[in-house]
Amino acid sequence: MSAALKAHAARRFASWRGQAPAGTVFAPGRVNLIGEHLDYNDGVVLPMPIREGTAVAFAPRGDGRVVVRADDLDGADEFALAAPTGEGDWRAYVRGMAVELGARVPGLGGAGLGGADLLIIGNLPRGAGLSSSASLCVAVGRALLAAGGLEADPVTLARAAQAAENNHAGVACGIMDQMAVAAGRAGHAMRLDCRDLSFTHHPLPADWTVLLVDSGINRALADGEFNRRRAECEAAAGLLGVSALRDASVARLAALPAGSTQQRRATHVVTELARVDAAVAALARADLAAMGAILSAGQASLARDFDVSLPAIDALAAAITARLSGAGAARLTGAGFGGALVVVTRRGLQDAVAAAAGRDVLTAF
Ligand code: GLA
Repeated sequence: MSAALKAHAARRFASWRGQAPAGTVFAPGRVNLIGEHLDYNDGVVLPMPIREGTAVAFAPRGDGRVVVRADDLDGADEFALAAPTGEGDWRAYVRGMAVELGARVPGLGGAGLGGADLLIIGNLPRGAGLSSSASLCVAVGRALLAAGGLEADPVTLARAAQAAENNHAGVACGIMDQMAVAAGRAGHAMRLDCRDLSFTHHPLPADWTVLLVDSGINRALADGEFNRRRAECEAAAGLLGVSALRDASVARLAALPAGSTQQRRATHVVTELARVDAAVAALARADLAAMGAILSAGQASLARDFDVSLPAIDALAAAITARLSGAGAARLTGAGFGGALVVVTRRGLQDAVAAAAGRDVLTAF
């Protein structure tokens, strides 16, 4: 999948610039198995990279400018590395990544890099909660580094990509997506501690599969709600006197006003944290029934306590889960308010899932 997309990008680059690129890089999207809205609460999450992603064909330039063409994103752009960025479409992510990476990698923002031509092409559904923006930022970062003959470790790349979203695109996202994209391993779930960024890779049992079902509900207007959830969690942490909700316990939840928004948000975070390590244990035992129960409990928590699901999504998750009869489950993945569902189940059940959902299904790896 990534090889075909890279070859496609190289061909498009050649017809754009009249010569082959110096190289082509790729960054995947990600799906989160469990651990939703925990990253910005300093929690632990369990994402995995998927096959679809973003390819960038590149060639260095000698004039210090970055010239970008993104055919599938409808447009082109040209800017100096130090140019100020504004909020907006995909250009804000590309410019933001160049600026933030330049600030972190000696030589990239200064005279060490002569600029680059970048041809971007991606095959992730956008607005589906599969991290098309983190994939775009990390792929652009890899291309800028390679064009400059430079290297950076995955954590530096992920931090720059998160800063691109936070500071240039107006989204107060955590760092799960960028770390999964920059440091994930194909076919493995990544247990990531978002407080210290330590991580371990956990293989999926050989007879399991991870499927993606796009609900078709676009979450384009969800950024404001996302930022509000983050602020609500910070308010709850403040009331509890902890620096982040990761440090709150079930017992402490009673200290919050009963039934309040803060108590419900904190309840999701505290219970979801326990589900992440339960899921890692279920993976290790290849216990699909337990994994299904964890995913269903996560879906209920997103709907009841975190208010990021929708009735149509709840119904879709329930229909798929019922069809699996204990062999796994479906739940909303990513920020919420629409987008994709993740299904963890046994191999061979893809057609059954598609029939229950009445929608196309993608295989994650
Ligand atoms: C989005 C954000 C992530 C994370 C998830 C919810 O994908 O970009 O940082 O908060 O939502 O788990």
